[in-house]
Amino acid sequence: MDPQCSVLIVQNQRTILKVQSQCESPFDVLDGANVDFLSEECNVYRVRISRPSSSSTTDTYVRVSTRSCSPRSLQHVEENGRRYCDQNYFMPNDDAELTRLNIVHQIYLILLEGRLTTAPIPTSSPRILDIGTGPGDWAIEMSTKYPEATIIASDIGVFDAGLGHMSLPNIDFQISDAETPWTYHEPFDLIHLRGLSGAFANWPRIYQQAYTHLKPGGYIEVADADPAGDTVLASPETAPHLCAYAAALRQAGDNCGHPRDLGHLRTEVLAEAGFEAIRAVERTFPVGLWPEDDDEKTIGKMALIAALEGLEAFALRPLTQSAGYSLDEARKLCGDVQTELLAPDQRLTGRIRIMTGRKPTSYAQRRSQVMARAMQKVKDLQGSLPVETDH
Ligand SMILES: C[S@@+](CC[C@H](N)C(=O)[O-])C[C@H]1O[C@@H](n2cnc3c(N)ncnc32)[C@H](O)[C@@H]1O
Repeated sequence: MDPQCSVLIVQNQRTILKVQSQCESPFDVLDGANVDFLSEECNVYRVRISRPSSSSTTDTYVRVSTRSCSPRSLQHVEENGRRYCDQNYFMPNDDAELTRLNIVHQIYLILLEGRLTTAPIPTSSPRILDIGTGPGDWAIEMSTKYPEATIIASDIGVFDAGLGHMSLPNIDFQISDAETPWTYHEPFDLIHLRGLSGAFANWPRIYQQAYTHLKPGGYIEVADADPAGDTVLASPETAPHLCAYAAALRQAGDNCGHPRDLGHLRTEVLAEAGFEAIRAVERTFPVGLWPEDDDEKTIGKMALIAALEGLEAFALRPLTQSAGYSLDEARKLCGDVQTELLAPDQRLTGRIRIMTGRKPTSYAQRRSQVMARAMQKVKDLQGSLPVETDH
């Protein structure tokens, strides 16, 4: 097996689930084969594979795609006309959702004036981790912007036409559940989580893992715009259905233990995990065709399309599985919200919130940084002093 063209997908550190060949046929399943990890260098592993059907073993070099996936994450579930990556996560991962995520990614870019992140990237060849990468728009653009970067993009599922099907030189796509212990071997300069409200039962635990897997001085960035987190701003007088929809989604999230608010974007939660220099930025944008300014109208149109596309995506599973709605009732609520979103006199706005925090540098590192800055100042000062000449 050639390490350049094969990715081993492993369950529970032992059993091979799939061998993904990025050169030839997409999947060649080695059912039930066992794998022993022998050594590792630069993400290439020497492993010993033993197959149940044969007494022989094979030693080979491969890139290991994941060590924490379970078979459920690779089997799609069809439900109410949508495709989901498993039985648990509430959002679909079909083409309609892919398009919505593509649009949302563009909205983030516009609101951040073309920047992909608000966190400083401390080095020219950073190690970056994108948790819950989805189709991978953010990771793909980061890989172009930082060609020297090493990017790991992970998710519990694979979108058709998304990152899991592409081979890019500096991105390693991994199927991995972020709620299980993280097994990355080298620390990161930046860990990015976007659009993950409702994905996790225990955000503090996610932040703890991120903290552990960052280099000292590395950054975490968390961004979200979940309608259940009141990020579409509406009043009960003018948009009662929208407010009821957001409240029902929050209730469903609470009922199933995966909160759907923006509680994880409170600065205290990052501070409690040990992060420092915490900053939060918010951007408000129009939703709908009401702005007069052309640029605002463009964002408003994009946000409206994303909101309409997301209505059922955000709601069908949570409302039917965790809030006691029948499918018809859930669809009726989405239909009522759609009417409100499209009402010509609605002047709705949306909001994104982005929070960054830094893992403190160790005392020794901080001391040498202070010394380096002091030495630089001395040099600058010397440079600005008049040069002495002999008379
Ligand atoms: C709403 S999408 C956001 C995708 C991407 N971050 C973006 O901003 O375009 C959420 C993604 O998180 C993934 N996800 C949900 N639970 C996860 C978990 N426990 N571990 C890793 N990824 C998860 C989903 O499969 C989905 O692709």
